[in-house]
Amino acid sequence: MDKKEAQSRIIKLRELINDYRYHYHVLDKSIMSEAAADSLKHELSELEAKFPDLITADSPSQRVAGAPLPGFTSVRHSRRMLSLNDVFNEEETLNWENRIAKLLPAGTKLEYFADVKMDGLAASLIYQDGKLERAITRGDGFFGEDVTSNVRTIESVPLSLRHDDAPNLFLSGRTEIRGEIVLYKKDFDELNKKRAKDGLPLYANPRNTAAGSVRQLDPKLVAIRKLHFHAYDLLRDNSSEVPTYDFAYKTLRQLGLLANNIAITSDSIKKVLDYARKWEEKRKNLPFNTDGLVIKVNDRRLYERLGVVGKAPRGAVAFKYPAEQSTTKVKDIFVSIGRTGAATPVAMLEPVVVAGSTVQMATLHNEGEVKRKDIRIGDTVIIRKAGDVIPEVVEPLVKLRTGDEKVFKMPSRCPECNTKLVKLKADEAVWRCPNESCPSRIWKRIGHFASKAALDIEGLGEKNVMALLDAGLIKDAADIYTLKKEQVEKLDRFADISAGKLIKAIADKKNPELARFIYGLGIRHIGTQTASDLANHFRSLGNIKNAKLEKLAKVEGVGEVVAESVVEWFGQPNNQKLLDKFKQTGVVPQEVKRVGGRLSGKNFVITGSLESMSRDEAAEKIRNLGGTFQSSVGQDTDYLVVGANVGESKLAKARKLGTKQISEKDLLKLL
Ligand code: IVH
Repeated sequence: MDKKEAQSRIIKLRELINDYRYHYHVLDKSIMSEAAADSLKHELSELEAKFPDLITADSPSQRVAGAPLPGFTSVRHSRRMLSLNDVFNEEETLNWENRIAKLLPAGTKLEYFADVKMDGLAASLIYQDGKLERAITRGDGFFGEDVTSNVRTIESVPLSLRHDDAPNLFLSGRTEIRGEIVLYKKDFDELNKKRAKDGLPLYANPRNTAAGSVRQLDPKLVAIRKLHFHAYDLLRDNSSEVPTYDFAYKTLRQLGLLANNIAITSDSIKKVLDYARKWEEKRKNLPFNTDGLVIKVNDRRLYERLGVVGKAPRGAVAFKYPAEQSTTKVKDIFVSIGRTGAATPVAMLEPVVVAGSTVQMATLHNEGEVKRKDIRIGDTVIIRKAGDVIPEVVEPLVKLRTGDEKVFKMPSRCPECNTKLVKLKADEAVWRCPNESCPSRIWKRIGHFASKAALDIEGLGEKNVMALLDAGLIKDAADIYTLKKEQVEKLDRFADISAGKLIKAIADKKNPELARFIYGLGIRHIGTQTASDLANHFRSLGNIKNAKLEKLAKVEGVGEVVAESVVEWFGQPNNQKLLDKFKQTGVVPQEVKRVGGRLSGKNFVITGSLESMSRDEAAEKIRNLGGTFQSSVGQDTDYLVVGANVGESKLAKARKLGTKQISEKDLLKLL
């Protein structure tokens, strides 16, 4: 990028970031996620670092803290409310430890206190002789807003401190309690559901809703929103009265406040990092949003001694989980043809790290989606990636357009085989390549056949399938059984050992389970559960092949659409040829002998992740015992297995329907 281009980009970035800040801090509205805004700020700082003479005093990169809102009385904090510096990984955390260790006398033993970082609104409660006197928002750290009348409506804020078993010390004089006001995820969801029903605009996220609520001028409205106050700090004029954070949390609880009981104290930073990883996994189960941890030096004397740089204490850091959103540019949009012929537009991106891994492509789902979101080639876009989910484009940042962006046009022909794309039904969103011999479809079909949920042939991922196709060694899934080691080891991607392993892995799957084989054929609408239903009912491939439509449709879990799809698949000459070829190469799916088992007639849903096995493995075990694995809770669900990182929606549904909830341990017992 030359200087002129940089300048116009910088101007646009500043405008958009300022817009974000204004909406966020003044209007309590969010026009994009914090992670996406951070990504833009990062780009701005990088450009400014490259062209320092383009830095201006009013650039968002030059800004420190925001001023309090008008409307509430501004109050000075007795002690400044600081922010935290971020660390993003193990290395940065260890560096932090080294830095502070150097500032303390040699041999100082450090102990850490760690808690999850709650995503809400910081507030300070002032108690005088045990009575709540005042509540102040963080504001700019020096001055905050007096929101006492609103905070008094929050039930977890005691109006007077409890003193059953608390040391009386804290009940006399001035006690300041700091913490986070949060709106729980479930309450936020409910609130939005209600707003949707009433036709009102939806709230962006729990934090902004909590903030908006606390800063509402009519305190009667606050209580409705069910806010919670989670305390994280206890301050006295004489700081020696609170020697450690550990002590602070214990005392806060005795005084009748909520202080997270999952917080830990440890003398090993490695253990703290283990704790961080554990909560990265499990944070979905927490009632509030969190994007990391707060790690503090437990000993408050040492903490104070380490001092402050800028607006953050040296003695604490925020350990941030990798952002699940980021911004990048769409270099191009191409169309990928799937196994069933579905033509999916895919965005090729300038590589960007999202949720800890580099993303270069993101699905755009279908033509309609590209149009609806108006994603253009050359656009700067927000990318989202969560866990193992395929990255997707959330939205383009229209304000960053230069005018050179190109509108994507869905091709009318398959980019792989030039066949005219069609829609199976007029109202369908998806265009498809109808050519069964389309090279892309063949490739994806073979990949699907070998995939984990189907035949599970190790070493036969999509890249290797491509290599075998390119070398002309295979043309369909049956051909893999004719491969010879000598042929495979000649290919660039293989060597003596890997070729031998692949041949063995294929040979091991000559008698696959019937359900896996059926699923592997890639018949439309046949997922793993339907494949298993068909296998259990008909017991052999021959029986399924010969079954009449009515008989198929009657099988539980099958139904008409699936039955038609099965009949159509087995009726096609090329599929019959494929089955013959399997037979000739000696591939014989196992017949199902035992129907019905211990779990016969029982329907299971799993929510969240299991510790002892993957969901697919659990599903398979359930099916092997005659049970049914369902994807969502319904009237007929017998058990909801509740794992870690549980989504609230399934639990809510189960509660509503009175479905029995069992733990992973209970499931293992049943299995
Ligand atoms: S301790 C120097 N503990 O994070 C402030 N803060 O970026 C250290 N926060 O303004 C405060 N959860 O509002 C602490 N468990 C927790 C927290 C927490 C959320 C917020 C707090 C603070 C901000 C610092």
